[in-house]
Amino acid sequence: MNKIIPVDKLEIGMEVVALDKSWLETNILFHRFRVQSRDEIQKLRQNGIRMVTVRIPDPQPTRAPEKETDKQTEEGETPILRGMEVLPLPSLKEWNALHDKTVAVVAKSFGDVRMGNALDVAPLRYQVVETLDMLLRDPRKNSFLVTLSEVDDESYVHSTNTMILAMGLAQQTGVPHEELPMWGLAALLHDIGKALIPLEILKKPGKLDPNEWETMKRHPRLGYSILSKSKDDMVRGVCTHVAMEHHERKGGGGYPFGLDLPDIDPVSRSLMVLDIYEALTAGRIYRPPLSPAKTLSYLLERELHKLDPRAIANLVQMVGIYPVASLVLLTDGRIAMITEYKDPDTHTGPVNLLAIFSKPGVPLPEPVPITLSTIDRSRVKQTYHPRELGLSSADIARYLEIAGADHPDH
Ligand SMILES: [Fe+2]
Repeated sequence: MNKIIPVDKLEIGMEVVALDKSWLETNILFHRFRVQSRDEIQKLRQNGIRMVTVRIPDPQPTRAPEKETDKQTEEGETPILRGMEVLPLPSLKEWNALHDKTVAVVAKSFGDVRMGNALDVAPLRYQVVETLDMLLRDPRKNSFLVTLSEVDDESYVHSTNTMILAMGLAQQTGVPHEELPMWGLAALLHDIGKALIPLEILKKPGKLDPNEWETMKRHPRLGYSILSKSKDDMVRGVCTHVAMEHHERKGGGGYPFGLDLPDIDPVSRSLMVLDIYEALTAGRIYRPPLSPAKTLSYLLERELHKLDPRAIANLVQMVGIYPVASLVLLTDGRIAMITEYKDPDTHTGPVNLLAIFSKPGVPLPEPVPITLSTIDRSRVKQTYHPRELGLSSADIARYLEIAGADHPDH
């Protein structure tokens, strides 16, 4: 049950679900949160909030929580808990809808800048907050699932995927909650300078010649220039640094300044890793996508000396070597999709899979559920990106549904 109360009646521990001002009228990023300090209440007052809607827990829940949720409740640390109510995990369908909306908003922002108009940050901030809300409800680390999007405008999809990865990474590494939207917005805007790069270069279906490459390398400075004109403090702060620095590299081998890691903002140091991870797992017109396992191997074997090793380690920990929806060739010759980890935070212990192919190119008559006590290199001969096997995001969603690992009705 929800109840509208004055801000002065708000107490620590209460769950706020709405404010009396629209999201765009305040500098408050979260309009749904649990009050954790008096400072938060004071911030509401400072933003002119007079009334808030709070969720009053039902004293007698009518339905016992299911077993796994029960465990989460006992531990009291899962972000999907709101008051006494357990919110459903977001389905892949919900994720894809939010993702597609965000891609459209990013596309409009790039279009505005390309037309010489000012960047309107408010709709981007809104998408960041909506995405963060979804991430906090979803301990499954759906970042890889979302990168399977079939929207084909890669610059906007790339920015959106990187934003999801960035907030997931920041959350996992203990970045304070209030700073997570900053990471998301910085990621969403890191390539905004590309809005001022000629489209024939941006969309060229092949390698750039040296002159075109020099033009493309201007996008960090252009991004800085665009963002530094913003009226939004967050945009003029970290977002400008990330736009300028995300192609710098350890040892000074990057551009535009040849900075070394200690001189690079920590957000930029993580973002440069996510930037590469997303580009490789999503693929490009001229380059097929790689599986997460192959991408992480590439980062560790070929890029480690150019990047922040801690950022790579954090990424490995976040997505795992074999994230949900990745496909593995098992030692018995079957190809199976990872559908669920017993412990999605550590990707250790029992794991559920769905065997789909009896061997490459030969689908099984019916998918076969498998549970392994653990998954590691001794059980996996090879990994595939779903597209390498001709599987679409709709196929992935269907298999997750078959495996009971997604909740399409929510
Ligand atoms: Fe870039």
